Amino acid sequence: MERPRPLIAAIGAVASNGMLGLDNWLPWDIPEELAYFEATIAGAALLVGRITYESMDEVPADSFIVSRRTDLALRPGCHRVSSVEEGLHAALATGKPVFVIGGASIYAAAWPYCRYFYLTRIDMPFAGDTLFPESVPLASWPLFSETVKCLRERKRGCEVLCRFQIYEQPHSRPLPALEQNSAANFPE
Ligand SMILES: NC(=O)c1ccc[n+]([C@@H]2O[C@H](COP(=O)([O-])OP(=O)(O)OC[C@H]3O[C@@H](n4cnc5c(N)ncnc54)[C@H](OP(=O)(O)O)[C@@H]3O)[C@@H](O)[C@H]2O)c1
Repeated sequence: MERPRPLIAAIGAVASNGMLGLDNWLPWDIPEELAYFEATIAGAALLVGRITYESMDEVPADSFIVSRRTDLALRPGCHRVSSVEEGLHAALATGKPVFVIGGASIYAAAWPYCRYFYLTRIDMPFAGDTLFPESVPLASWPLFSETVKCLRERKRGCEVLCRFQIYEQPHSRPLPALEQNSAANFPE
C-alpha cells in the first residue's frame, strides 16, 4: 500500500507576463491578495528563500530560511537550512502544515515535493525583475479548485481579475533521506 505523502504545498502569485518580483518585493499592490496569502499560511511552517526572507517585514515562527550564508542574521523563531530538502524535513518535523513561499529559486527547487500549489494568477502584466520559474510544470497538474475575484490594485488604481487557483500534483516526489547530521539541530 502507498504510504501517505507528507502535506507540502507551495503558494505564490504571478502576473500575466510571468513576473512575480520587483526590487525584492511584489510588482503589484493588491491588499486582498496579500491577505489571502497571510490567511492561507497562518499557523504553517514555512520554507523561504533568503532574498524573500530579507524582504519580509514579519516572519512567522517555524520559518526555515534556505541560504548558504552561515552568518545569516536570524529573527526569533527562524532557522537557517542549507538546502531545500533539509528545510522541508525540518519544517515537517514541526508537525505543522508546510508551505513553500518562494521566491523563484525556491519554487524551482521545491516543486517536485509539493502536493499542492496555490497560485494566484493576476490577469494584468506588471514590470518586474523576477519571473515565475518555467520549470514548474503546473500546466500538467490538474486544477483542484479556482475562485475568481475582481480586486483593487493600488499602484495603477484599477480593478484586476485575480484567479485563486490550487493545483494538485498527482505524484509528488518523496523527500530523500538526509545525510546524517545535516539536519540534527537548528540553532536560532
Ligand atoms: N509573487 C510571489 O508570490 C512571490 C513570493 C515570494 C517571493 N517573491 C519575490 O521573488 C523575488 C525573490 O526571488 P529569488 O529567486 O530572487 O530569491 P529567493 O528564492 O527568495 O532567495 C534566493 C536565495 O536563496 C538561497 N538559495 C536558493 N537556492 C538555494 C539552494 N539550492 N541551496 C542553498 N541556498 C539556496 C540563496 O541564498 P544565499 O545567497 O544566502 O546563499 C539565494 O540567493 C523577490 O522579488 C520577492 O519579492 C514573490
